[in-house]
Amino acid sequence: MNKFKKNMKEIYENVNTNGLNIANILADHNLLVKKYKKVIIQPTALLIDPSKIFIGEGSWIGSYSNLRPVNNKIIIGKNVLIAQMVSIISDQYDYKNIDLLIKKSLIKGKDVVIEDDVWIGTGSIILPGVNIGKHSVVGAGSVVTKSIPQYCVAVGNPAKIKKRYSFKLKKWFKYSLLIKLFFKLNIL
Ligand SMILES: CC(C)(COP(=O)(O)OP(=O)(O)OC[C@H]1O[C@@H](n2cnc3c(N)ncnc32)[C@H](O)[C@@H]1OP(=O)(O)O)[C@@H](O)C(=O)NCCC(=O)NCCS
Repeated sequence: MNKFKKNMKEIYENVNTNGLNIANILADHNLLVKKYKKVIIQPTALLIDPSKIFIGEGSWIGSYSNLRPVNNKIIIGKNVLIAQMVSIISDQYDYKNIDLLIKKSLIKGKDVVIEDDVWIGTGSIILPGVNIGKHSVVGAGSVVTKSIPQYCVAVGNPAKIKKRYSFKLKKWFKYSLLIKLFFKLNIL
């Protein structure tokens, strides 16, 4: 283990108060390139614990992106474009027990799933339990707190659907309450 990785491991073990052992912290880029064949991972992307990160071929992980599974998994399909400075977070502290320091509380959360052919705009944050459906787009700077269906464009904080593709009419629709209802009723 090189000195930098050793220091990081020690720092993490010292601050870590709930028994996590993030031994794979900062897997070096050459190891990532070997592990994720047919995936482009830009050198400054940070993949914490690659044993919990699954990426399909043809996908791209942009500079300074931060993929951070602890107890849960991050599952990324094929041909997914993750732009720069995107954070994908699958875990969080259980702050609701007020008798425990938050940093000593359980880590919970849920897997994040990003289906094939999704594009996530720069600076976005994807939170635990979110599923982003095939060929959907997340606008730059969005915070995705809830799942997004397939073939949608979602933007903002919290991310809301702005456009959705109808296979029936073969066109994109600007999303509104009425259009949402039509999709629900299978009219679109
Ligand atoms: C999401 C995106 C693809 C939408 O493109 P588009 O379909 O041309 O969208 P439009 O310009 O028609 O915008 C539709 C609406 O969403 C809003 N919007 C678009 N992108 C937004 C964003 N990132 N955050 C908040 N609102 C956004 C627009 O203001 C517009 O709102 P309105 O309907 O109230 O007027 C684009 O805006 C975007 O964010 N691209 C990401 C770019 C990027 O990160 N590149 C990294 C290199 S890989």
